[in-house]
Amino acid sequence: MHILAIETSCDETAVAILECAGTVEHAEFAVLGNALYSQAAQHAEYGGVYPALAKREHQKNLVPLTIRALTEANLLQKSEPTMINHSGLERIVDEEFRKDTLDFLKTHAMPDIDLIAVTSGPGLEPALWTGISFAQTLSEAWNIPVLGINHMEGHIVSALLKSADTAETRRPDAEERGKNKQEPKYYTLDAIRFPVLALLISGGHTELVLSKNWFEYQLIGKTRDDAAGEAFDKVARILGMPYPGGPEISRAAARARESGRRSDISLPRPMLREENCDFSFSGLKTAVMYLVRDIGGLSDEVREDIAREFEDAVTDVVVGKTQRALQKTGARTLMVGGGVSANRSIREGLLNLAREECAGLPVLFPDASLTGDNAVMIGAAAYVRKAAGKIVKTEMKAVGKLRLDTSS
Ligand code: KG4
Ligand code: ZN
Repeated sequence: MHILAIETSCDETAVAILECAGTVEHAEFAVLGNALYSQAAQHAEYGGVYPALAKREHQKNLVPLTIRALTEANLLQKSEPTMINHSGLERIVDEEFRKDTLDFLKTHAMPDIDLIAVTSGPGLEPALWTGISFAQTLSEAWNIPVLGINHMEGHIVSALLKSADTAETRRPDAEERGKNKQEPKYYTLDAIRFPVLALLISGGHTELVLSKNWFEYQLIGKTRDDAAGEAFDKVARILGMPYPGGPEISRAAARARESGRRSDISLPRPMLREENCDFSFSGLKTAVMYLVRDIGGLSDEVREDIAREFEDAVTDVVVGKTQRALQKTGARTLMVGGGVSANRSIREGLLNLAREECAGLPVLFPDASLTGDNAVMIGAAAYVRKAAGKIVKTEMKAVGKLRLDTSS
């Protein structure tokens, strides 16, 4: 089946076309089209995500990105302007966006899509609504179902997608797709053993979630203040580095390590010794703020040394709390998702933990191209839900604080 997936929860506008097949244990995915526009550079001016700008950019980019993804997938055909069912269009409030959507629908034949998946939360509500109203309009015009997907579930499924770019998994029609077309990316689902512990570390969330079965979630621990990615972004700002701060801090920390320099800069490991699986990162940010104030002018070296100590502190806390959660739950697989899962130091810390303290427990990370927000993970989550018979029909609406926990 073909899924058109849409992600607009934060500052990435993304549309992907997936061809999916197989049971939940043997699911296969071919990413036929993948169009993503990151607004990060535009938000950098504001030092973080500016919701009104995010919404405006999603409105501007959704139609062109949908055209690009469908074209890449070879599923789009122009047609003479035709009448369509545009009853869904009234959901699109912005005039320009409504016009773009109507023009697109009127001048293209209905593509071979079976299901539309769209992020319905958590995230910035105005941004989420943009994707949802667009998805609903397409769904009504083309008369195909639309499914709301939890963004965090997308991050979980992203860790399960295993690259399968081998000759055996290629579909015969890949050759027919035309010489100029990019070869689709293929994935299978990694085999997992339940219970699974998911560590979700992103710009908006830091959570440890236990899954005893597909799509059953129990919250084991969460941040009491800032998310891990938010801490990276805020500390980067204090150090004079641009948004998004995670990759910047990571690069600076790597330079400090390569230099072999010793430094006596020391930051706290908040809540590490506490008997729970919760996190707190705002004190760490404040500690960096005072440190920078006390030092006065920062040289490049000192900036790098602070970045290294900060990254070490976050890694120690994340690894320590994950270890506690693994002990508490007896999980047999660890999976990591969200933008911060790209962080090398955290990846190494978790792999060491699994190897040395947990008898080689399997640890799954997303492919580098799937760590940040993207639509592939939303489409894949929709398919896995469908394959597992776990589709829940809910009212389509944006829920900024949408929860994952199904245990209460
Ligand atoms: O999952 P994501 O793309 O968006 C949200 O759903 O929040 O995560 C974005 C966050 C940002 O805070 C960014 O600074 C952080 O992920 N990030 C990193 C790295 N790459 C991205 N943090 C630490 N190290 C990285 N390499
Ligand atoms: Zn995310």
